[in-house]
Amino acid sequence: MKTRLLPADEAGIAETVKVLAEGGIVALPTETVYGLAADAANGQAVAAVYAAKGRPGFNPLIVHVADRAMAERCARFDPLADRLASAFWPGPLTLVLPLKPGAPVSALVTAGLPTIALRMPASPAMQAVIRGLGRGVAAPSANASGRLSPTRASHVLESLDGRVPLVLDGGPCGHGLESSIVAITGGGPRLLRQGAIAAEDLERIAGQPLLPASEGEKVAAPGMLLRHYAPRLPLRLDVVTAGPHEHHLGFGPVAGDESLSASGDLAEAAARLFDALHHAERSGKAAIAVAPVPRHGLGLAINDRLARAARGLDPAGFIDGK
Ligand code: TXA
Ligand code: MG
Repeated sequence: MKTRLLPADEAGIAETVKVLAEGGIVALPTETVYGLAADAANGQAVAAVYAAKGRPGFNPLIVHVADRAMAERCARFDPLADRLASAFWPGPLTLVLPLKPGAPVSALVTAGLPTIALRMPASPAMQAVIRGLGRGVAAPSANASGRLSPTRASHVLESLDGRVPLVLDGGPCGHGLESSIVAITGGGPRLLRQGAIAAEDLERIAGQPLLPASEGEKVAAPGMLLRHYAPRLPLRLDVVTAGPHEHHLGFGPVAGDESLSASGDLAEAAARLFDALHHAERSGKAAIAVAPVPRHGLGLAINDRLARAARGLDPAGFIDGK
């Protein structure tokens, strides 16, 4: 298959809607990361997404909606879900809510779960695509399973060239970090994934603490699997002085080979994180070292991504500063 690349202008968006309406898949930009999209109501199209990603078939997908009416056809909103959606939509918040019977969504999207992950993206291109299709758009991040989330069209091509017919190029993603995921399915709200919205901002609007995901939910959300966010190289955290074999990602006063944010700005570091890890993978170095990044606000999500990458290593392949 030859992959076409189109700019996210009017013609590109119209072509994207046409491909989706005909049951095809398209990689497209959102404000968080690029998504690999399919019509959420079309099971075969959704299956094509899993196939292109090489993703385990039991991993459910986020359904992207254009407005609240579309969301409420899919899920039940309680007052807490309503508060969070009102505060953060459109934007990088995904809510996992009880699935409404008769929701216009293929069962493959939710992997058979009685819940559904919903998000109303802010990206104008993605909004236009959803409105054009007139239905929810299912989209995981547009990377092959186990690879880094793509924040540019070129990243999508690195892992999916020849596996998707069309990539809509909207330039680099603004956040560069996936959406925060909050589950409100009974028994108190849980933070299933740290993401582009700081946990304390979510808790302020929720008016209560968000509990960590339970073990059962970790099985239900295998996107949390250890190697999910791992780059292909061994990675060490909190490194002030890197070895010669390491591509060093700096932060604040630690310059490194390239800095996530020279001024120590966590939002800037989040936006650069996946770009920097992609650079590191291509650097020719044997390993990655990352400078200390403070563990508060968006720094929690950044450290969470990096810790997963570090823990996913084969210990035998680990080169410890030698
Ligand atoms: O920013 C984002 O969220 C991007 C853009 C494209 O929207 N999407 C994204 O999708 O990161 P994905 O598939 O890479 O991650 C979605 C996560 C997965 O870990 C999945 O297991 C979890 O959401 N998830 C989806 N539906 C769920 C459900 N019903 N219950 C629990 N977890 C769910
Ligand atoms: Mg993903």
